[in-house]
Amino acid sequence: AQIKEVGFVKSSGKAKDCPKDGRPEFAILGRSNVGKSSLINALVKKKEVALTSKKPGKTQLINHFLVNKSWYIVDLPGYGFAKAPGSVRMDWSAFTKGYFLNRDTLVAVLLLVDASVPPQKIDLDCANWLGRNNIPMTFVFTKCDKMKRGKRPDENVRNFQQIIRENFSQHPPWIMTSSVTGLGRDELLLHMSQLRNY
Ligand code: GTP
Ligand code: MG
Repeated sequence: AQIKEVGFVKSSGKAKDCPKDGRPEFAILGRSNVGKSSLINALVKKKEVALTSKKPGKTQLINHFLVNKSWYIVDLPGYGFAKAPGSVRMDWSAFTKGYFLNRDTLVAVLLLVDASVPPQKIDLDCANWLGRNNIPMTFVFTKCDKMKRGKRPDENVRNFQQIIRENFSQHPPWIMTSSVTGLGRDELLLHMSQLRNY
């Protein structure tokens, strides 16, 4: 399940502009600043394959990265970087929703959840939206190396999972990660290879 080579293929502004070669793909989704681009870099062990930033809203398009010439990792814009204050409903731009509903080659969504903060309503809304639309997801908890305001990452994760259990008949798979320490990297690569069936 190792990554031998990875290359940026293209940025797309809408689903119908995405690559059409039929290779399987995994979409990386989550709040702005949760660590989507950093996770991609950690997976492929390269510093700046995907561009990262301390400021939210760095990734603005659908970005395809081809791995081992056989499957894609897709970096998406984050949600929840709300221009409308207090907005808690899904505020993806139409193209991101269009991507999820029309992308036949999508194997699963890796829904990234920040383990350094308590459960956020917008992440639960997102999980519920994916669930309602029958899009397979895996929870990838990020920043497990980091403790904020005295709340331990494992406690935040437990609380999040408790809420998920109340909403889903079957709890989606989950993996704890850190892009800083490399925690969960091999587990996540193995998980994705199992989902691809090779
Ligand atoms: P958008 O593209 O704006 O949606 O953000 P993103 O989800 O791609 O986040 P990005 O990877 O750019 O990371 C945001 C910030 O979080 C950066 O300052 C990263 O260095 C930091 N960060 C990401 N992953 C981790 C992690 O595992 N641990 C710690 N401590 N910091 C992290
Ligand atoms: Mg990004």
